[in-house]
Amino acid sequence: MTGFLRKAMLPGAVLALAAGALIGLPATSQAAGTGPCDIYGAAGTPCVAAHSTTRALYGAYNGPLYQVRRASDGATTNIGVLAAGGFANAAAQDSFCNGTTCVMSVIYDQSPRHNDLTPAPPGGVGGQDNPVPADALPVTAGGQNVYGLSFSGVMGYRDNSTSGIATGSQPEGMYMVTSATHFNSGCCFDYGNAETNNLDTGNGHMDAIYFGTLCWFSPCNGSGPWVMADLENGLFQSNTGGSQNTANTGSRNAFVTATLKNNGTNFFALKDGNAQSGGLNTRYSGALPTSPSGYSPMHKEGAIILGIGGDNSNSAIGNFFEGAMTSGLPSDATENAVHANVVSVGYGGPSPVASGTLNPGSTMSLRATTACCTTRYIRHQNNSVVTSVISSGSSTLDKNDGSWIVRRGLADNSCVSFESRNFPGDFLRHQNFQLFKQPMDGSALFRQDATFCPQAGRSGTGTSFASLNFPTRFIRHFNNTLYIASNGGVHTWDAASLWGDDVSWVVTSGWS
Ligand code: AHR
Repeated sequence: MTGFLRKAMLPGAVLALAAGALIGLPATSQAAGTGPCDIYGAAGTPCVAAHSTTRALYGAYNGPLYQVRRASDGATTNIGVLAAGGFANAAAQDSFCNGTTCVMSVIYDQSPRHNDLTPAPPGGVGGQDNPVPADALPVTAGGQNVYGLSFSGVMGYRDNSTSGIATGSQPEGMYMVTSATHFNSGCCFDYGNAETNNLDTGNGHMDAIYFGTLCWFSPCNGSGPWVMADLENGLFQSNTGGSQNTANTGSRNAFVTATLKNNGTNFFALKDGNAQSGGLNTRYSGALPTSPSGYSPMHKEGAIILGIGGDNSNSAIGNFFEGAMTSGLPSDATENAVHANVVSVGYGGPSPVASGTLNPGSTMSLRATTACCTTRYIRHQNNSVVTSVISSGSSTLDKNDGSWIVRRGLADNSCVSFESRNFPGDFLRHQNFQLFKQPMDGSALFRQDATFCPQAGRSGTGTSFASLNFPTRFIRHFNNTLYIASNGGVHTWDAASLWGDDVSWVVTSGWS
């Protein structure tokens, strides 16, 4: 069903909801438990948007969570829940995407409003956004394998034609579950209310939760990342912009609940908490900014964004597991109950993977085997990729630069890709046959350029890595710079001399 048709059902659906007999929606009699949107709804602040790739956000929800599109033939399928009110059917994704790669092409709104999210169009800043790779963020929820959304830059979703989302000075609340394992200071990893024309239309035209280390107003205490309010032309920690809370040095949990509420006239509040245990911390609760003007009252426009700024600024990275937006201002008690519900899910990481292997999730380093260079490791330096001598006495920077996280191949999941240990979202890729560390932009070309297929070391030692899209070329060091090189060829780095040794690497434990 198209987003338009899904939205066109709304009046009937709302009537049905009021009558307690849902038409075209899951039957309430199937309720398997309570979700965040049941909590918001029972408190009189119903969800008008509910997005998650991990679970149903209503106890009775039994519809699609997201759509995946596979690269091999462009076909799509919807991924639903294992049972009403339950967790995502990740096995259905694995089966549909087997032998190829998939992206998450639609994030469905589980609320009766059907405010579905699709890849965001170009805006005042940044061009068309890409959808996220579908298998980039495997985690567990309630012991089930599920996938979150991992944004690596130039990725984001939007709905400019929504139903029920606050406009003008109407009140609203929202929460998202994100993660302090994948963030940056790019603008802007947001979830919430934004402009309907993809442009910066002025102060107060946005009301979205931000998570990351972009310190827009001083002071920001500690090293972050912080939950902030993106109210347009500023990420606010208080009515004066910067933090008024010295205890708020950021939230560094693997799973983070972040909340924002804004009454549209003179009040907003920001909270965060460990999504795996404990309660919420109130980081700010007070007046809306009055200087500069434009924020009190607000000028909300009612679009929904995920992973980007209001004007489509798309240089942020981040993780998203679930989130919802309400009509009306949720009470503190309601927000506490929603957070407790999130904690009860039991989010967790995938099973730990041994370091120093080529299994996805492993952190490892790659040591050269050529006689000249057996203490040298592949590392990035100013975005180029070279070999450097790294030892136990090396600096933390050198060790981090020389460590890589193995990911399933971005363009072929039987091969591998290498994500930078200290620049999450940046991958090793070739360009004009040289290797670089670059942010994953989601394009088919990047995915191919960043995918390498391991095979026995061509010298008889270690492992060699064939380029997926240039299969006769292998990762090689030549004058300490990294290339994909063939055994003899037109480039200096294709020299046959020492080729077998130069393309053979030892996979070691990660330096960090
Ligand atoms: O408010 C911060 C950012 O500023 C907004 O997300 C964006 O629209 C603008 O560039």
